[in-house]
Amino acid sequence: MPASVICGLQWGDEGKGKVTDLLAADVSLVVRYQGGDNAGHTVVIGDETFKLHLVPSGALHEHIRPIIGPGVVVNPRTLLDEIQMLESRGIEMSKLRVSSSAHVIMPYHVALDGAREAAAGDGMIGTTKRGIGPAYGDRAWRTGIRMGDLLDPDLLRSRLIAALTEKNAVLALYGLPAFEFESLFSDALSWGQRLAPFITDTTAIVQAALARDELVLLEGAQGTLLDLDHGTYPYVTSSNPVAGGACTGGGVGPRQITEVIGVLKAYSTRVGAGPLPTELNDEVGAHLVETGREYGTTTGRRRRCGWLDFVPLRHAVQVNSVSSIVLNKIDILSGLPEVKVCVGYRVGNELIDEWPMSAAVLERAAPVYDTFEGWTQDLRGCRSIEELPAAARRYVAAIEQRAGVPISHISVGPERTQTIAVRGDSLVAAR
Ligand code: GDP
Ligand code: IMO
Ligand code: MG
Repeated sequence: MPASVICGLQWGDEGKGKVTDLLAADVSLVVRYQGGDNAGHTVVIGDETFKLHLVPSGALHEHIRPIIGPGVVVNPRTLLDEIQMLESRGIEMSKLRVSSSAHVIMPYHVALDGAREAAAGDGMIGTTKRGIGPAYGDRAWRTGIRMGDLLDPDLLRSRLIAALTEKNAVLALYGLPAFEFESLFSDALSWGQRLAPFITDTTAIVQAALARDELVLLEGAQGTLLDLDHGTYPYVTSSNPVAGGACTGGGVGPRQITEVIGVLKAYSTRVGAGPLPTELNDEVGAHLVETGREYGTTTGRRRRCGWLDFVPLRHAVQVNSVSSIVLNKIDILSGLPEVKVCVGYRVGNELIDEWPMSAAVLERAAPVYDTFEGWTQDLRGCRSIEELPAAARRYVAAIEQRAGVPISHISVGPERTQTIAVRGDSLVAAR
């Protein structure tokens, strides 16, 4: 029963979309297991670029059945737009399935997300304002509306009346207008009608595929350091991007997962507020932003950039039980005279190399760096380890050594084919 999980090892935007598309060539199902349209996953095939927010990144392969699992929060309007966008570009969407248990992001969730952020002032999280936190909040409070509810007018009516009574009172506290029941109810019914062919029990589909020994790929959104439990709380998202989230959110059991593929960017980025110990506000940071085109796929915001941080890397490898790593965007480091990695933090008088589970401690952490010689060669054309310059190989080998798990692929550009598959012990041999 081989299920593989792909998850981000940093603060999101590690290139999970590219990796999912790449590895989907050999599987039959790709399942999104958490998050919502806060995610922005980019897939580049030839000169075509696809930016996906809800539809799993494997969907661009004709043979794939794309699944949106029960752990995802779904904004039906975004999903309808995305299905339409993909179909207009010739991607067949009839095989898409959405869990009837997945929660719906309603317009009042989006309004509340924006209102809370505005009210928080300096304490804002810097969310994507897609209603993610409020929707997951209602799920935990058992006041949410699920995708299956959109297909049952009586149930939808009673759930929506109950929700609106409370939401409108809270919106009034923020000075925002109330939502009118009749128009929201009729909108929700129409989303249900249009999405009805896709809504079903996706766990049964995933389990049936596993029982037939078909390969299932579970695609995470966001990243480990944005995880509600394992990230830099409160500067996190409201779900579990870690591999464990694939079980609850995708409908697989822990023993069905045979492989966890961690996606790692060759440097650090973060969008929104919260600690980023290696952040660079100098010309190197500007190089990473501009050369790496580090602008949010969902919100267009400039991503904060810094050197790769080995401290949370080990934490991420542990909490995800990572079996192998795909290293992305190493091409972006070309041209820098030297490349640094953070190997520990100085916090007051103390030197630490364990990830502190406290945003407050991290805010005070001053990074301690190891420095590597840089390289000037453009790496985008490299297709084997041997073609990488020696300095780049040393950098990659140090990452592998620190992580303690093999690097299976090195990505040297956004396009599907701009990838080095590391075979056997060639990385070790190249050191
Ligand atoms: P995701 O959210 O993890 O799927 O990542 P995003 O799509 O938000 O951001 C990753 C960006 O980097 C996208 O624009 C990708 O096309 C691009 N990308 C992925 N891998 C590489 C790589 O190896 N090199 C370069 N230059 N770009 C890459
Ligand atoms: P992908 O899947 C990067 C960040 C937001 C904010 C915090 C909480 O493309 O890697 P939310 O809207 O989830 O309540 O915002 O999480 N965030 C992401 N950062 N990549 C993402 O997704 C993100 N999804 C949310 O910027 O700091
Ligand atoms: Mg992204």
